[in-house]
Amino acid sequence: MQPKQLIETYKAKDGRNIEIRTPDCEDVEGLMNYINGLVDEGAPISTNEKQNHISEIQYLADEVQKILEGKLIALVAISGQKIVAHAEIRRGSGRASHVGTLGIGVAKEYRDLGIGQELIRLLIKLANSQGYRLIKLEVYAHNAPAIHVYRKFGFVETGVIPKMGLFANGYEDALIMCLEL
Ligand SMILES: CC(C)(COP(=O)(O)OP(=O)(O)OC[C@H]1O[C@@H](n2cnc3c(N)ncnc32)[C@H](O)[C@@H]1OP(=O)(O)O)[C@@H](O)C(=O)NCCC(=O)NCCS
Repeated sequence: MQPKQLIETYKAKDGRNIEIRTPDCEDVEGLMNYINGLVDEGAPISTNEKQNHISEIQYLADEVQKILEGKLIALVAISGQKIVAHAEIRRGSGRASHVGTLGIGVAKEYRDLGIGQELIRLLIKLANSQGYRLIKLEVYAHNAPAIHVYRKFGFVETGVIPKMGLFANGYEDALIMCLEL
């Protein structure tokens, strides 16, 4: 994969055209706004820290480098000029080189339009073509939409990590889910 490679244009359920491509170093502002939106919302993701330009430049430089090395599959979804979703599969190392860890987020106002499922469909297709044999992920136990989507793709729950995240209501378990390719 190359940075800024157009993968497809996806028609969302509301009719909007969403461009899906690989990220590029020019995406610093867009990705920072996207992730900070999730943090502001208190989304059920592992990070609750806002990014700044410096941290985002470092994150993106690492991401682009790993894409070029074949250690990362990453996609962004763009509506107009705005990054509205990011999804990735990060390759393990050594004996786990065939194992990818999936992460995904869609900006709140773009959810339930099919974008998340389209990104996962593409990630799985790309992972298959790049020799991955297992995709794993962790999801907080109260994250019903995400669990619903993962099950639709055939992910199965293989374990529980107790008290994995601290939320306003207290500790939350995380489920481990896996998909064998
Ligand atoms: C999980 C997430 C990526 C899904 O993205 P999305 O673009 O909304 O996904 P889609 O529109 O393709 O599909 C959403 C599905 O969830 C379902 N859904 C919505 N709310 C739901 C709920 N409360 N309980 C169960 N299912 C729900 C929808 O009906 C739809 O399923 P369907 O196609 O079978 O009808 C998105 O909700 C998100 O970014 N959440 C915040 C960040 C996050 O949780 N990331 C994952 C961390 S593991």
